[in-house]
Amino acid sequence: MIKYVPPMGWNTWNTFAESINEKLILSSAQALIDTGLRDAGYEYVVADDCWALRERGADGRLVPDPVKFPHGMKYVAEKLHAMGLKFGMYSCAGLMTCAAYPSSYNREYLDAETFASWGVDYLKYDYCFKPLSADGKNLYRRMGLALANCGRDILFSGCSWGADNTHEWIGTTGAHMWRSTGDIADTWGSIRDIIKRQYDILPYGGVGCFNDMDMLVVGMHGKGHVGLKGCTDEEYRTHFAAWCLLASPLMIGCDIRAMDETTRAILTNRTLIGIQQDPRGVRPYILYGWGNSDLPVIVRALSNGDLAVGFFNLGDEPANVWVTADDLGVPEISGRVLEGREAYTGRHFRAQNGVLQAELKPHGCEVYRLRIGK
Ligand code: GLA
Repeated sequence: MIKYVPPMGWNTWNTFAESINEKLILSSAQALIDTGLRDAGYEYVVADDCWALRERGADGRLVPDPVKFPHGMKYVAEKLHAMGLKFGMYSCAGLMTCAAYPSSYNREYLDAETFASWGVDYLKYDYCFKPLSADGKNLYRRMGLALANCGRDILFSGCSWGADNTHEWIGTTGAHMWRSTGDIADTWGSIRDIIKRQYDILPYGGVGCFNDMDMLVVGMHGKGHVGLKGCTDEEYRTHFAAWCLLASPLMIGCDIRAMDETTRAILTNRTLIGIQQDPRGVRPYILYGWGNSDLPVIVRALSNGDLAVGFFNLGDEPANVWVTADDLGVPEISGRVLEGREAYTGRHFRAQNGVLQAELKPHGCEVYRLRIGK
């Protein structure tokens, strides 16, 4: 079924990698509820790689690791459904998963059926160990067909990292979202590079098949599997705002059971989530402040006629950025005025003399939801 808005949820990989189990997943699901994240829209709880035994069972089916998942996956799905959440799992199109567990190569139909029988709602489908002779797009088309025939509505999350010109063919596979880059790390450089990579591929995302900029590192602060150096809260704000304006899926990657209030506030920012979930589904576009690709101004037309305008500073120096209302489709002679609030600070904003201006700290952003008033 078509998905009209990009999905939101939590995924085990960024923090926990192979150290996953039923208890972690269910306690994180409880934390989604207790912290208000579920009510903010985060509904998919995804068990990434390393959930299975290294060998398939005698019946050829994938087998959950009985130490990590003593009650099996159907049990986890039922618990999550009872909590008002959805369950995501992980497999791979190549010969093995990226962490060398069994993949779904040539077993697409059997595995899709198994996932459906467990009550799975979301399948992340990776690209490691693809045989050189195999055609990547055909492997994704196979799984797309297998899911369409498994008897359950399962969101198909393609994860081929933009390899083999993914953007050209992913829309033919039935995938609902597609990973456009290699793996994110919890560093400013990684966030900046992923944002810049979007410049060329913006036209390939949107309703039907959302461009997935990878799981969020907001709130990781250097802890966990992709933790590395960690970022400042200012950088996490910019990261989250860019993912929202570009309508990427929002899959949280930090340990939500231990997150601080600043992290919670970023992840539940209503204005930004409202932009990311906007039901009109218009694609965003980018203007460049001073023609500088370190200073993108990301714009998205919203369902009630509003405009989202985000000023970003990906560079290391403070920057003063501006665009004209005319550039945003509002000529001065129309008599219309752009007015609204900044997403993080709530600061009131009104275009002055037809110019929108923002003073940005290094790695900072300002995002406005603007009415086109009379
Ligand atoms: C790849 C993916 C990651 C994660 C790991 C699991 O690297 O891109 O998001 O799923 O595999 O092994």
